[in-house]
Formats: sequence, C-alpha cells, structure tokens
Amino acid sequence: MTAEIISGTEIRKEILAEIKQEVEEMKEKVGKVPGLVTILVGKSPASVSYVTLKVKTALSVGFNEIQDDQPEDISEADLLALIDKYNNDENIHGILVQLPLPKHIDDKKVLNAINPDKDVDAFHPVNVGRLMIGGDEVRFLPCTPAGIQEMIVRSGTETSGAEVVVVGRSNIVGKPIAMMMAQKGVGANSTVTIVHTRTKDLAAHCKRADILIVAAGVPDLVKPEWIKPGATVIDVGVNRVGMNEATGKAILKGDVDYDRAKEIAGKITPVPGGVGPMTIAMLMKNTLTSAKKTLGLE
Ligand code: GUN
Repeated sequence: MTAEIISGTEIRKEILAEIKQEVEEMKEKVGKVPGLVTILVGKSPASVSYVTLKVKTALSVGFNEIQDDQPEDISEADLLALIDKYNNDENIHGILVQLPLPKHIDDKKVLNAINPDKDVDAFHPVNVGRLMIGGDEVRFLPCTPAGIQEMIVRSGTETSGAEVVVVGRSNIVGKPIAMMMAQKGVGANSTVTIVHTRTKDLAAHCKRADILIVAAGVPDLVKPEWIKPGATVIDVGVNRVGMNEATGKAILKGDVDYDRAKEIAGKITPVPGGVGPMTIAMLMKNTLTSAKKTLGLE
C-alpha cells in the first residue's frame, strides 16, 4: 500500500488562510494588526532568499512587516541597540534576526537581547525553558518543531501513547520536538526516544516507531526496512545532492529513502514540499499569538 502524503504546501495554505482571517478580525476589533520586524545583516544569498520569503508571507496575511536590512559591518553594539529599539516599540510583536550573523557578532548575545515575549523564533533561553515546563508557560514554540507537530495532528495521526522516535538531537529540531511530543496535551502524550550518532542500533529503534521524525541531515539515512508498516514518517532533512542542469536549481533529498519508504509507511512527508513550507507559517502563527497576547485578545 502506498502511503498518504502529508503535504506541507497544502497545510501551510490552510494555516495562512486561518491567520489572515484572524488578522482581519483583529483589525476590525481593535484597529491594529500584528507587527513583525525581520533584521537581515549582510547579503548572503541564502539569507536574502529566506528573509524575502518571510517578508512576502507576512505581507500576504496582512501583517505590518518591517524589513530592516543592515550592512555586513554593523557593530555588535549597534545591532544590540537596534534590537532594544524594537523591544520598546509597541507596534512590533515579533522580532526575527536572520542567522547566521557575521563572525564579528556573537549570535548568542544578540538572540538573548530579544525580549522573550517578542522572540517569535523561540530561540531565547527563556522560551526554551518555558517549552520544557510546558502547559500555560509556553508562549512560542520553535517554528520547525511546531510545524512538525501541526502536520502530525492535521494528518489525523494518533499521538497519545504512540511510540515516537526522533532521529537527531539538535537544539532547533530534535531536542524541542522530542520534549513537545512527550508533554501533556493535544498532539502529544507520546512515549519518546531520541536517537543520535552514538546510538548503538539505530534501525532497531526506528522499527518500533509509530511516528518517526528524522532530522539528521544525512541523505537517505533511514532505509525502508527500518520503518514499521503503517507508521507516520516526518522527514525534516533538506540535503542538496546535486544541481539540475536544465533549471539551475539544487536537487533536494530528505533523510529518508522516500521512494521506497512510501510503500511501507502509512503517512509520509515529501522533500521538498513537506516540513520546509511549514516553518514560515508557524513564524506567522507565533507573531499572531504575540500580538493577541499584547493586545489582550487572548
Ligand atoms: N536561519 C536559518 N533558519 C533560520 C530560522 O529559522 N530563524 C532564524 N532567525 N534564522 C534562520
């Protein structure tokens, strides 16, 4: 049986339509819309393309979007002062500093300077701590893990009591998604195992998974024999494995051997068009949440 495809492209559309609707209602009710600032330092092509997409998406849902581009040689002190300015701007509900930053700037210092209540990336240690505590403490979930959980829920996958295996232990995906799935609540209550490069028998763990989340950054790491028949497979990997000569675009591959895995899994995310498109949608959701809290609408 061929797996049902969980399309991030489609789910993103649904989420953005829901956000747009809420923004319109907010505008009618209180005459305000969510404000997001994206700070881009320098002109790295990858960062420019990410930020352009974030800006375009924010505008498409009706946000007040400020694209604040800064030169590559901005000093750390000036960047911190800029963040302080937005921390104190009541019309800005979300602050995003695009990473990576130039070498002369300390990423950690910059991320830690963002007001945690405007930290829509959820990278600030306060938000990492809030996620660990769970429940009402949580203000923002990190965008990629939030997108993964949303896909699991919207695909109708049962999470309560499910065996979840997370391949990878990064701060931005593996660790947070593992904690989120283990928490009490909707789309969670799972039994979670984190596996990584030092795990003795990766295959044996993956084979137990009702929900397999792979964020290892290794193309085709997960073999079809490692997948439990009927499992939900979420592939977070985006690996550039070559270049399409005709289109000039990178050929992307996930961490799962998709073509063969889809014959065994119950539900599976493709690459591209899976988790990738969800991340920016969840950034918009966090910005909306922040605005609602600030404006007393929640
Ligand atoms: N650079 C690559 N991905 C991200 C992200 O999710 N947030 C920020 N701020 N920078 C990034």
